[in-house]
Amino acid sequence: MSILLLSGSPSTPSRSGRLLHEIGRRLNALGKQTVSIHVRDLPPQALMHADFSDPELQAAQQLIKQADAVVVATPIYKAAYSGLLKTFLDILPQEGLAEKIVLPLAVGGGQSHMLALDYGLRPILQALGAQQVLNSIYATEAQVVWNEASGLQIASEIEGRVQQGVESLIDSLQCKAAKRANRQAEQEAEVRTLALFEA
Ligand SMILES: Cc1cc2nc3c(=O)[nH]c(=O)nc-3n(C[C@H](O)[C@H](O)[C@H](O)COP(=O)(O)O)c2cc1C
Repeated sequence: MSILLLSGSPSTPSRSGRLLHEIGRRLNALGKQTVSIHVRDLPPQALMHADFSDPELQAAQQLIKQADAVVVATPIYKAAYSGLLKTFLDILPQEGLAEKIVLPLAVGGGQSHMLALDYGLRPILQALGAQQVLNSIYATEAQVVWNEASGLQIASEIEGRVQQGVESLIDSLQCKAAKRANRQAEQEAEVRTLALFEA
């Protein structure tokens, strides 16, 4: 089962990007495969013009299509998720997140806009058909600090949410895999029963 890490910050370095990377690292340590899309690295002209024929946008769409889960990270800009992320969500098909588990995360300057993910982003993820949108993770700049010497420092209250997010994601993926296996077993049993009748 593959997990896509989608970064919607125009900045580099990016705090939301670093938190996303940390989630990816923990998922990898648990044996889960991840792939990444940094929207800022996609061709800007194709994004701005919603050019569906652009090969890089098509490749990114394909990565989304193949993923079982998406961790989507954004900075808070003007009380909302980033416009850059929106340009990418806008080029997805109507049911672009169908059957996917989504874990949203954001980093903002302060606490004032901590509901932006739930009021702003969550409805769009659901409109795109997400099967399950997990509890979002919101951190402030002061809670996600990076420096060369000690690497990423996550405040303890956020650390708990990050770990909970990773565990919920894995639980939901296991549930999804079990359902998929059951469905497949039922279909195979049906085929065998039909073959018996026909024999
Ligand atoms: C143009 C701009 C607008 C911002 N607007 C808000 C805002 O409305 N609310 C907020 O909490 N932080 C706001 N911030 C602060 C960013 O959310 C914060 O710096 C965050 O860490 C950026 O994430 P990034 O490092 O992943 O890009 C804004 C920053 C910029 C550059």
